[in-house]
Amino acid sequence: MSKGTYYITTPIYYPSSKLHIGHTYTTVAADAMARFKRLTGYDVKFLTGTDEHGQKLQMAAQEKGMQPKEYIDEIVVGIKKLWETLEISYDIFIRTTDDYHKRRVQKIFQKLYDKGDIYKGEYKGWYCTPCEAFWTESQIVEGKCPDCSRSVEMTKEEAYFFRLSKYQGELLKLFEENPEFLEPVSRKNEMVNNFLRPGLEDLCISRTSFDWGIPVPIDEKHVIYVWLDALSNYATALGFPEDVEGDYKKYWPADVHLVGKEIVRFHTIIWPAMLLALGEPVPKKVFGHGWILLEGGKMSKSKGNVVDPVVLAERYGVDALKYFLLREYSFGQDGVFTNEVLLNRINSDLANDLGNLVSRTIAMIDKYNGGIIPKPKQEGEFDEDLKGIAINISTKLEERMNKLDYSNALEEIWKLVRRTNKYIDETAPWVLARDTANKDRLDTVLYNLSDSIRIISVLIQPFMHTTTGKIWKQLGIDHGEGTQWEDTFIFGKLPSGVKVQKQDPMFPRIDVAKELEDLEATLLPKEEKLELKPEISIDDFAKVDIKVGEVLACEKHPKADKLLVFKVKIGPETRQVVSGIAKHFEPKDLIGRKVLVVANLKPVILRGIESNGMLLTAELGDKLVLLSADIGTGANIS
Ligand code: MSP
Repeated sequence: MSKGTYYITTPIYYPSSKLHIGHTYTTVAADAMARFKRLTGYDVKFLTGTDEHGQKLQMAAQEKGMQPKEYIDEIVVGIKKLWETLEISYDIFIRTTDDYHKRRVQKIFQKLYDKGDIYKGEYKGWYCTPCEAFWTESQIVEGKCPDCSRSVEMTKEEAYFFRLSKYQGELLKLFEENPEFLEPVSRKNEMVNNFLRPGLEDLCISRTSFDWGIPVPIDEKHVIYVWLDALSNYATALGFPEDVEGDYKKYWPADVHLVGKEIVRFHTIIWPAMLLALGEPVPKKVFGHGWILLEGGKMSKSKGNVVDPVVLAERYGVDALKYFLLREYSFGQDGVFTNEVLLNRINSDLANDLGNLVSRTIAMIDKYNGGIIPKPKQEGEFDEDLKGIAINISTKLEERMNKLDYSNALEEIWKLVRRTNKYIDETAPWVLARDTANKDRLDTVLYNLSDSIRIISVLIQPFMHTTTGKIWKQLGIDHGEGTQWEDTFIFGKLPSGVKVQKQDPMFPRIDVAKELEDLEATLLPKEEKLELKPEISIDDFAKVDIKVGEVLACEKHPKADKLLVFKVKIGPETRQVVSGIAKHFEPKDLIGRKVLVVANLKPVILRGIESNGMLLTAELGDKLVLLSADIGTGANIS
């Protein structure tokens, strides 16, 4: 029997082929929650997708000489592949270019218009194209977007507006009466104090200066503002407003929208205002999580493969990466990613704590009981403590998960992992095994260890289900008894008499120093440096006298293939200059060129011909260019 429904969403992603582990954070978290709710008996709907309209994407496609849809299709394949690699268990993948979504967004627009909440006017203000966000004069900071600090453009166009200001009072009430609507609380204060209290302005919700968007149903030269289009996805994916009797009725309002902190404003002001205007319930909760940063700033894929989720998953495993993301960082706050933090976390929690617990236990069952899980026979010291902790973890885990406190949820499970490891040290099975008189006690210890591992294996399932499967295989209980959520509240559910199967270590210990070196050598982008001769001082350079000369004549050196012989007119003089550039130029092409000549170079004889000066050349990749003077733009030397 289902405990009820649970609807969880991630933001829909901007199509980008450069998703880094920061991006995967929201989705990994949503996946763990969806799996947790399924495990605990809920009927879950987990939505993700892609946000495919807007000026930014139209421009990106144009740069590649492609149609927007064609350009985006390719990227979306990559995003779906990434979620497949990370084993993300979404139920719906919505694309805002899907016909059903476009139709439903137009219907939403029409409803708002019919209600009188949309009107036509003129937009004059600032627009940040990378964020697809409108800003007022007072909101921009030193001429830049307050969110991303990039340049904003002054935009003036005929536009439709949504009466956002009308909902200010209701929104404030929503925040005040529902402390759980936006978490963590710090973000709530930011929204209330920085946006709601100072007053809301009506929102421009259409654009005419580009056409990559959903047409406004009543005026086709306008496209609907990309955020109005994108936010609607949470409802259109369930059928709203066309079909409100099916999934929409069942799953709406959303139990939680997980979003990064920078898009909280859209989700807790614009989106609920739209819903209020439509007469629909608002989501139960929006959680604005923190950012994963790199030392020295925001993450970007240009910082190299070290932040590529696929590369990291390939090297350390999907489970390790997901565990790390959710355990290392406190969900509401920012955190800094380094490879070292990742590797240390894998070693301490996964290789040492969990991996060792399982491999030691299986090895002891193999050695002391012929690989068969024994029956417990003789209670002893430490058993009650272990069991007491084991059967209480599920409740604590659920409490933490309901607060979206992933890190402490995992820490609860690890309390049991560490307690069980300690039980091995306390009971010292290797000592018991020395005397057959202790066999009953030894059997009990081995059983308790295995059953504790059973409980752990079920509890970690939402976060790292492949590891769960591996543990079950080792315990010989593949999807057998004792693997349901309810079974984690009871000790002793593991069947005895089953043969264990020793496997390779689940999380081999990583030599951190060596791995870091290897990462540096193979994955970090190489900083390309110019190869230069030793530095010279300005005084050295000042000794060089460079003059502009005109090539009067140029011919091949009679005795050397590489050399050309020039007659160059420099001011009142005509000089003979020999230059080693014959491989790069045809002599006739150079006649008349205004060249730069080092005029005070000591004369030399080159294969019998005197050279009186040097023509300046420079390398351009593997080519050589003869430096020329652009006389037209010269200014007088004063
Ligand atoms: N398209 C909008 C969302 C529209 S929802 C109606 C968008 N897309 S996004 O691709 O830029 O971001 C997707 C998610 O990735 C957001 O939750 C964002 O906060 C998250 N992250 C992107 N970089 C991040 C980090 N470095 N760290 C943590 N999460 C970050 O916004």
